[in-house]
Amino acid sequence: MDNDVLSLIEAWDGNGVVMRFDRPTGAWIFIALHDDTLGAPAGGTRMKVYPALADGLRDAMRLSEGMTYKWAGLGIAQGGGKAVLALARPLDGEARAALLRRYGTLVESLGGAFVTGADLGTGPDEMAMVASACRHVLGIDYRTMTSTDPGPYTAHGVFCGLRAALEQTFGSDALDGRTILVQGLGGVGAPLARSLAAGGATVLVSDVDQARVASLAQEVGGRPVAPESVYATGCDVYAPCAVGATLNPQTIPRLACRIVAGSANNQLLGAGDAERLHRRDILYVPDYVINSGGAMAFSHMRDGDWDRDSLMRRVDGVGTAVAEILRDAAASGDSPLAAAQKRVERILAEHQAKPKPSA
Ligand code: PHE
Repeated sequence: MDNDVLSLIEAWDGNGVVMRFDRPTGAWIFIALHDDTLGAPAGGTRMKVYPALADGLRDAMRLSEGMTYKWAGLGIAQGGGKAVLALARPLDGEARAALLRRYGTLVESLGGAFVTGADLGTGPDEMAMVASACRHVLGIDYRTMTSTDPGPYTAHGVFCGLRAALEQTFGSDALDGRTILVQGLGGVGAPLARSLAAGGATVLVSDVDQARVASLAQEVGGRPVAPESVYATGCDVYAPCAVGATLNPQTIPRLACRIVAGSANNQLLGAGDAERLHRRDILYVPDYVINSGGAMAFSHMRDGDWDRDSLMRRVDGVGTAVAEILRDAAASGDSPLAAAQKRVERILAEHQAKPKPSA
């Protein structure tokens, strides 16, 4: 076993990692369980090819920590967890389906100690395959075995949070006359770009997949931006909706926006990058708050609400949470990340103070 992997596990402050080697495909499954203070760890399943095994594990660990904050920020009784299926090579067809079913069996064997749903590289189809072997998938209506995509709910939460950020910065949440750059036109970025354009914003679109850029640019009347030009392009809002770590010491000095508000998980490379943005007077809306619409919708689905309009109205709450955090930050002089962190710590501490109900 890769030494890096073992040292990562030893050094991690989360609860632990469940791992499994999937011999038929050569994939590694990592289920990182960060914290269960509020409830069973729950988080998405990411499936991709990583440069090295340790990168996949590191991703799972960082993302599961983000899930702890995401649930706590929403006040939902789940803990932080995340799974990564680190593929040895791209998979399709039956090999892919079989891996997902074996993964489902593994999650089932944990008996509810980990609950999952879609993430980068997995969508409703993949989740239906996992759910065929497992009762712990969010977004699945097990009565009918229909599988829901969290993307539009996450996008709606980003839309609401982004408007709260506009209000805080410009004194108005109007989209008219605002220029917004959406980076990544996948399950969240594409619906977000559509609703921003429908709301009157000028939308700039970017993606590594040029065909997607071309079709979405045409659909929303947006201007395409080359991937390497994203950071230096002037705009009111930069919305990172693809991979993480795009806010780092290399990109932050080049940013030409007033606000960063997007759906990607782990947008900051390191904790110091929030301060770096704050010093540049760029309002950074903490990722785990603004991208929590999917998680919020999933938890209401689990409680039996499957109505799209009603779920969308509930996700409006993401806008309220963002507005509160930005107000707290403005009042205290903290960065929005520091303000969000204090809110999360308060919620976790309140819970820890209460005696746990006996099973
Ligand atoms: N992966 C998405 C997220 O990070 C949706 C999701 C939320 C999946 C909660 C599972 C659990 O928000």
